[in-house]
Amino acid sequence: MTRLILSACLLAVLAGADRVSASQDQAEVVAAAPTDPYAKNACVQCHSDLPGRSSEIVELEWKHSVHFTANVGCDGCHGGDASVRPEQFGSAEALKRAAHLQRSPEFLTMRQSRDSFVSAASGRSVSYFCGKCHAQIKEKHLGSPHGDFGDPTCLYCHGQGSHKITDATPQIIDPRGRAEAGRCSPCHAASTMEVVRQIKTTLIETEQRIAETTETYSELEGWGYRNLELEELSHHAKEVSSKLRQIFHSFNMREINNFAAEVQEVSDQAKATYELITHLQSVRRNQTIVGVLAVGLLLSFACVLVYYKHSFLDPLHG
Ligand code: HEC
Ligand code: HEC
Ligand code: HEC
Ligand code: HEC
Ligand code: HEC
Repeated sequence: MTRLILSACLLAVLAGADRVSASQDQAEVVAAAPTDPYAKNACVQCHSDLPGRSSEIVELEWKHSVHFTANVGCDGCHGGDASVRPEQFGSAEALKRAAHLQRSPEFLTMRQSRDSFVSAASGRSVSYFCGKCHAQIKEKHLGSPHGDFGDPTCLYCHGQGSHKITDATPQIIDPRGRAEAGRCSPCHAASTMEVVRQIKTTLIETEQRIAETTETYSELEGWGYRNLELEELSHHAKEVSSKLRQIFHSFNMREINNFAAEVQEVSDQAKATYELITHLQSVRRNQTIVGVLAVGLLLSFACVLVYYKHSFLDPLHG
């Protein structure tokens, strides 16, 4: 009987283990085949198979860029029709012409406004090219001292091999001089590099202030404190940083400094409030300690009285 129960248990355990390994298998299958968002993107599929520069752009540059992660394919920037399927065309050449929108002139006129194909860009046209999606930055860049020629272009600062655009950081701003082969120095004298250094410092400090204020305010909120201006900055820290970065592209010191000063004002307010509240808390804590000490003192005084009564007065009465 016991043996029967034992073997039943063993079977149950084995069945359980089986189920576990089955679900693990399933998990592995899911992990092994993540759906490739570019599987049906004709541009990516054809260009990754082309020899030379094309596959280099796909494999070594674009796949390591923020745009790959953000689902911006070749067609996002260059336009064209990424939805064409190989089986719809007799030859690779026909497929390519369709994708590049090199169909009939009438077709191009029809489609031009929506997704015309742009193959290359330089100077100011790079700003328009990228500005399709980064509109505010385009405006600031074209209005900056660099906007007249569009040089340095968006790609001079952001691209490594033109397509490997990664997260933007203040490190792009390089205040090193010509002797040290600084990236910004080829067109600039040492006096401008001093301005460059200032801009970089302002950017880094302001971003730090935004982060610190967010942290301070969340602590203040934990204590029940509310303030509209602080809330605006802390709850929308990402947008505020973004605004700062957009303004930076104007290279207008007055505009940059004004924005930095606004942030500093709010950040100082957060600091002052934090200090005031922690001061009040410590005063209250000290008051409590003094209170407890006073009560303790009174109690011990009372004890002494009782003791005195018991040991001296009572025997007298007795
Ligand atoms: C069937 C293959 C094929 C497809 C699909 C395709 N291309 Fe191309 N593309 C080519 C070839 C071939 C060239 C010539 C350059 C080369 O050999 O690398 C080219 C060149 C280009 C160029 C360089 C400029 C030019 O006009 O020569 C760009 C930019 C480009 N393609 C973007 C795209 C985009 C965007 C898509 C999708 C909308 C796309 N391609 C779809 C094959 C293709
Ligand atoms: C973020 C926008 C952006 C995306 C995404 C993008 N390109 Fe480009 N591409 C550009 C710009 C700007 C130029 C022109 C400046 C240059 O040549 O550096 C260019 C130039 C090119 C050229 C011709 C110049 C050269 O270097 O040979 C080819 C070919 C090309 N792109 C292919 C592609 C393919 C294929 C994809 C998708 C894997 C792609 N691009 C995705 C912006 C983009
Ligand atoms: C089709 C729309 C589109 C085009 C065109 C485009 N981008 Fe983007 N870009 C995006 C998206 C979406 C993101 C990711 C979300 C974000 O950070 O804004 C991004 C992110 C970036 C970032 C990183 C931002 C960060 O937060 O650090 C940089 C830098 C950038 N793009 C530069 C460029 C440049 C330079 C060009 C032109 C060569 C360009 N982009 C063209 C859509 C686009
Ligand atoms: C002179 C160099 C330079 C040029 C030119 C330039 N950028 Fe930037 N860009 C930067 C730096 C530096 C940052 C990051 C600033 C920071 O992190 O504080 C940045 C940030 C960005 C961001 C991130 C914004 C955000 O909201 O976080 C995007 C997107 C971007 N640039 C796109 C562009 C586009 C598009 C162009 C062309 C119209 C361009 N940049 C031209 C240097 C440049
Ligand atoms: C292709 C040449 C070129 C490159 C590269 C270049 N600039 Fe400029 N820059 C100019 C021109 C042209 C002007 C406008 C004339 C002037 O003020 O010198 C200018 C103006 C400036 C100004 C305003 C000057 C002032 O005294 O107010 C600053 C700041 C600046 N650039 C910063 C940078 C930074 C930062 C970089 C590197 C990311 C850079 N530049 C790269 C060409 C360039």
